[in-house]
Amino acid sequence: MKDYVIETKNLTKKFDKQVAVNNVSIHVHKGKIYGLLGRNGAGKTTIMKMILGLTSATSGKISVFGKNIKKNAKHIYPRIGAIIETPGFYPNLTGTENLKIFAKLRGITRKDAIKHALDIVGLKYNDKKIFSKYSLGMKQRLGIANAIMHEPELLILDEPTNGLDPIGIVEIRKFIKNLCLEKEISILISSHILTEIEQLADTIGILHNGNLLEESNYKDLKKRNRKYIMINLSSASKAARILEQQFNIFDYDIEDDTSIRIYETDKDIAKINKVLTISNIEVSNIRNCNDSLEDYFKKITGGEGIA
Ligand SMILES: Nc1ncnc2c1ncn2[C@@H]1O[C@H](COP(=O)(O)OP(=O)(O)O)[C@@H](O)[C@H]1O
Ligand SMILES: [Mg+2]
Repeated sequence: MKDYVIETKNLTKKFDKQVAVNNVSIHVHKGKIYGLLGRNGAGKTTIMKMILGLTSATSGKISVFGKNIKKNAKHIYPRIGAIIETPGFYPNLTGTENLKIFAKLRGITRKDAIKHALDIVGLKYNDKKIFSKYSLGMKQRLGIANAIMHEPELLILDEPTNGLDPIGIVEIRKFIKNLCLEKEISILISSHILTEIEQLADTIGILHNGNLLEESNYKDLKKRNRKYIMINLSSASKAARILEQQFNIFDYDIEDDTSIRIYETDKDIAKINKVLTISNIEVSNIRNCNDSLEDYFKKITGGEGIA
């Protein structure tokens, strides 16, 4: 058994006939950040809700901390913190007062638990500002403080930066990273924004129409970010022979007979162009290209991309 904090096996959720989550198997490593990336409606929230027991799975298995969630719910859930939908805070109470109520409800007895949680998210203890006067960023921080008050080992955050301005996003990202690095909390986070997940996650799961298209280590994904020389020409097969024989280029792909991709980007473009032309191959375009991670996601999600 691997060191997974969350493992799902063929997890499926149907709403009537609609399959919202289809045979999804995810693997969240201990002490790491797992980013679930997918457009609105991809099934992110539904997966999180099933893990948290807020909705039942149609089929499949979920284990958390190496144990079946159904059989061990009582022991597992107190070790998890989560924000799925905005928690219902009282608008006329301050952040500290709100947390005091939640702490009491959840039987948190440690005296400095609230102050400690507020410190982590950068909110002031005993601040007089009432919740309804909070900015969206402060509301999100309070939500996270509420989720970590009991010092969970695993944190599940459903689109925690949704609606925040760029500065707010950077700040939240920073302390989510810190929670993982300093407190060694494992984190499952979802987003529909590629750049956000890209900067946070150690592992990325790409969800599309309820299907997990890919689950990869971020470093492996990054390798797909390839540079190449793209040539549009009259005969790719003829050109390939010349590239091999005269330029010693073997790392290339023929896309179709009018385009060719060369992955050896240190080659002299002008010279290639000249040699092809004098060999009676018409070159209509030759250029350096760079496939971003975004292009890759667009490709595997069928053209529209994620962000
Ligand atoms: N309670 C529900 N009843 C019916 N359909 C639902 C319900 N919750 C979610 N869905 C559907 O399941 C799909 C996945 O939704 P969701 O998990 O919320 O996606 P995401 O969080 O990635 O935006 C969507 O098509 C959504 O309309
Ligand atoms: Mg959602």
